[in-house]
Amino acid sequence: MSNLIGHQINNSEKINKLIRDLAQEVHAENQKITGVKDADPSLVESSKMLVDKIAQVRGRPLVYPYVGSSAGNGVYVELEDGSVKMDLINGIGIHIMGHGHPKLIETAIRASLSDIIMQGNLEPNKEYYKFTEKLVSLASKNSRLKYAWLATCGTMANENALKLARQKNTPKRMIVAFKDAFAGRSTMMAEVTDNPSYKVGLPEYNEVLRLPFLSKTNSAEVALSKFKELYAQHENKIGVFSFEPMQGEGGYKVGTKEFFVPLFEFCREKKIAIWADEVQTFTRTGEIFAFQKLGIGDYVDLCTIAKTAQVGATLYTEEYNPQPGLIAGTFSGSTVSLAVGTEILRILSEEGYTGSTGRIQSIHNQFVGMLKELNETTCKGMLTDAGGLGLMIAVTPYDGSKQKTDDLLKRLFKNNMIAFNCGKDPYRIRFLVPAVIKDSDIKIAKNIIEKSILEGV
Ligand SMILES: Cc1ncc(COP(=O)(O)O)c(C=O)c1O
Repeated sequence: MSNLIGHQINNSEKINKLIRDLAQEVHAENQKITGVKDADPSLVESSKMLVDKIAQVRGRPLVYPYVGSSAGNGVYVELEDGSVKMDLINGIGIHIMGHGHPKLIETAIRASLSDIIMQGNLEPNKEYYKFTEKLVSLASKNSRLKYAWLATCGTMANENALKLARQKNTPKRMIVAFKDAFAGRSTMMAEVTDNPSYKVGLPEYNEVLRLPFLSKTNSAEVALSKFKELYAQHENKIGVFSFEPMQGEGGYKVGTKEFFVPLFEFCREKKIAIWADEVQTFTRTGEIFAFQKLGIGDYVDLCTIAKTAQVGATLYTEEYNPQPGLIAGTFSGSTVSLAVGTEILRILSEEGYTGSTGRIQSIHNQFVGMLKELNETTCKGMLTDAGGLGLMIAVTPYDGSKQKTDDLLKRLFKNNMIAFNCGKDPYRIRFLVPAVIKDSDIKIAKNIIEKSILEGV
């Protein structure tokens, strides 16, 4: 064995046993959480005070009166008011392995013993390499992506992708993006995002041009003809085409190979960078990358990820590798995030989650089937257009109005399920289902959704 202190800590039987014992002890406690539960009246007041204090310090209330107690088991999470909720939004898609996953807790404890909390681009430890290597090796199987640069969130990964595209294709600076796109909330990503309510009071930089996304009325032909029209108006100014393989915030609309390829071919002809924003789709669609699920990996020049990875990253091909100085930054991610992100990628890519017969597809079929069944039986016509990809599932409740959708979300919360909205026309309910949901949990989900829908009639 090496005589490095770091290696000795890693290999120490005594330390490893302490880690395993600690993780098992916490797991045993978490396993006491077995299903949804209403709040404990004796805790309601103190929990409400906490919720109010959060609103006070951040100047804005929480969407839900949610403060987690730090305990959870799979799809279930315990809140400070003593209630246990079925969490089908997972911090908007962070906790793909649910709450209190024993292997992730063990990985996190081990990583927390490191000499440093945050890793940086100047002085990385091995977790930095392991995560980046795993990511690149998964991406390069089905694309030309060859490198990855870490970032602290999806927005920052997107900023880096845009910079890479602009540097390579300089001086072409304009961006083509879809209507209803979401790319984050930095100054530039708010511009790429197509939601006026997210940029009230911000200046318009006029650098983003819009195409219609695939819908019943918009085919590839419609989008391509719009692209050509925009290109003619802005010849030699468009440097990058940004797309979500499946629109997230925009309403859980799924793109197809047939829709995207004509647009990509046009990009190739005009030397426009093709950038897949997979911040929300990453690991969720039934393959590790949605570009793989849709069979479009060969076209992708740049790809951004975050959320389930526990850290952000920009992946790029050889030709988009930037000049030194363009991208950097102090943080690359916490040691725990990098180690846990690597473990999540290992589990999802090696333990039967992906592929047409994988667990993610099976969850999708059961969950969407459950929503469709409700729409045809007890909730007739009140849960329409159920669908999505893999663990990204949405449905339109009632008439798709904002008010009715928001009210339903509140009732779901009261009935101990957490979901969220997406889209504007119609407003939809989205579920970011964790990959650890059990078949029996889906039956419980059905009862809660049915009850909450019928209470609104
Ligand atoms: C498609 C997409 N891009 C970018 C982002 C921004 O990521 P983050 O919130 O980690 O900055 C999100 C977040 O929801 C997203 O869904």
